[in-house]
Amino acid sequence: MENFYRLNIDTNCFTKQFNLDNFIKKIRTPKFKVPTLHNFPLEKDNGVISNDWLDYMHDIQLPPKNLIMFYRQENYQHFGAHIDLDNTTGKNDRIFALNWTIDPNDQSEMAWYELPYDWEDKVVYTEIGSAYAEWPINNLKETGNRCTIADHPTLVRTDLPHTVFMKNNYRLSLSFRFDLKFDNWNDVVEYFKPYFI
Ligand SMILES: [Fe+2]
Repeated sequence: MENFYRLNIDTNCFTKQFNLDNFIKKIRTPKFKVPTLHNFPLEKDNGVISNDWLDYMHDIQLPPKNLIMFYRQENYQHFGAHIDLDNTTGKNDRIFALNWTIDPNDQSEMAWYELPYDWEDKVVYTEIGSAYAEWPINNLKETGNRCTIADHPTLVRTDLPHTVFMKNNYRLSLSFRFDLKFDNWNDVVEYFKPYFI
């Protein structure tokens, strides 16, 4: 099994009024030398993600709950890899995300690592409602293949430590989270099989 799968999903998700260029200009200030994230709860009329796209996702049984936009500056290399899970149990509730990057030519690579046996000791709860733990990648063992996501909607595993190896362009990625609960990655993969390319 892989830690990622490309999906056949329409990515035309923004509202007409959401000005992506302005958003990028705003977040690409010198203040943000570190990775930043921007959380958007996906109620109707949220102004960022269109009602049409939300309806489409509901119709195909993939109702999104929130969108997290992750920004990283070009050539920035983070020291660690992390897991991000659900806020309620810190265990298996939210073990996947649907990701793609704004730049269709993005060359950065996502990588996964084996989960340390004492991972639960590391978990902290963050303001965006996820259980989060991070380790220096030097202390971890990489597992599976790396994935260049670019603008391909991709199901990614988030219950193994993961990180992104940046190239010399900045990276803005969309990461959709869902109200779907699964016990393990195997069940996620089974559920998403009909959407595989
Ligand atoms: Fe993550």
